[in-house]
Amino acid sequence: MSLKERLYKVWRALVWTFDPADRAEAGKAITRNFWLHWFPPRMTKRSLSWSYSLWLGTISWVLFVILTVTGVVLMFLYIPSVERAYWTIKDLEYSVSWGWFLRNMHRWGAHMMVAAVFLHMMRVFYTGAYKNGVSHAARREINWTVGMILLVLTLLLSYTGYLLPWDQLAYWAITIGVKIAESVPILGPKIKFVMAGGTELGQPTLIRFYALHVMGLPLAVLLLFSYHMWRIRKDEGLAAVEQFRLAKKRKDLQIDTSGEEPVYSTPWAVRRIVLVSLATLVWVMFLATFLDSPLEEPADPSWTPNPAKAPWYFLWLQELLAITTIRTPWFTINGGFVGGVVIPGLMGLAATVWAFLDKSPAEATGVWFHKSRTVQNIVFTLGVLFIVGLILFAMYFRGPNWKVYWPWAWPELPEII
Ligand code: HEM
Repeated sequence: MSLKERLYKVWRALVWTFDPADRAEAGKAITRNFWLHWFPPRMTKRSLSWSYSLWLGTISWVLFVILTVTGVVLMFLYIPSVERAYWTIKDLEYSVSWGWFLRNMHRWGAHMMVAAVFLHMMRVFYTGAYKNGVSHAARREINWTVGMILLVLTLLLSYTGYLLPWDQLAYWAITIGVKIAESVPILGPKIKFVMAGGTELGQPTLIRFYALHVMGLPLAVLLLFSYHMWRIRKDEGLAAVEQFRLAKKRKDLQIDTSGEEPVYSTPWAVRRIVLVSLATLVWVMFLATFLDSPLEEPADPSWTPNPAKAPWYFLWLQELLAITTIRTPWFTINGGFVGGVVIPGLMGLAATVWAFLDKSPAEATGVWFHKSRTVQNIVFTLGVLFIVGLILFAMYFRGPNWKVYWPWAWPELPEII
């Protein structure tokens, strides 16, 4: 084979036959292509529609890729030392070319990823997409469980990154998380010791969070995400295809599938994936251009800001902790344990086993707000509103000493030097 032919072969393996002429070519375009080989050659139009998945899973993944790329560049500039970390961030802000932009993209990308993954979970729930419909081989509840772990990993990725600037905001927000862990009966102090690498937050904490943030957690997300995608193949496609299969199997249901026949993955899926990826990238760049990441004074363990608030996605835990801490002359309730561990733990467990217990009919698979799942949807929505409500309350109505104030009527506290 000549060099030219060889090069052409590599080119064909990396780039696809964008618009295949027939079924055979469409199949080859996918299986011979390095990037696309995990897709099936054809997908139903409903699986690819904008309104079914809202493409939130893809958006979550694109954000992860953006975070990885910007994160790797940041690693060349950041030093995980309590003496130097803060000043390397200052350098990024003021002396490294485009350093501020890189940091902003990484920071807003991380917040967006937490939001996108949560919204993706909501979409999966409301479309009954953890159900198996009429495909006997499908085990979509496994992917729901994998998703739950991915959600926790996403939160941990964001949380471990929050500490790295080593400023007052980072230091005290992380202190709150560590205190919640410490309130677990019996094991609490041990958990705190493992998390912080000592009895207080310091160099051992920073290096632990750093190692988890740049290696342990991204690797875990990468592995689980690969499994998440492989499962979709094993499950014979997104849950939306179940309507198509059901229509073929149960003519009596009279499901209208006109215009929903399978189409070639390339160009249909490829075109949309490229569009979604570009739109996500442009949005992160837009935010990074106009919104600056916060950076307060260097971390000072001897001066606690009042109030000290956790990152927004953990504010609901901080609020739960506050409202479940009850002290009377007769008994005391440990809010850190009840509000910080037991209640969220039970909520997470309930959400995970839900997919295994949902006995709604096959018709409800892959359909937004199917009428047979109305009660389930209401219970789930109440759970989401509970979390969002607590976050907003803690964000806007909690002032000094964690007392309730109107957002515009916070008292001025004397400056502590
Ligand atoms: C790092 C986080 C995650 C990433 C990157 C991710 C990615 C994806 C992608 C790309 C899809 C294909 C459909 C789509 O684009 O929406 C998908 C489907 C799916 N995901 Fe996720 N996901 C994540 C977290 C979650 C979570 C938190 C859950 C639920 C607890 C979940 C459950 C599922 C299920 C059940 C499907 C199949 C949906 C269907 O058949 O319609 N995933 N995921």
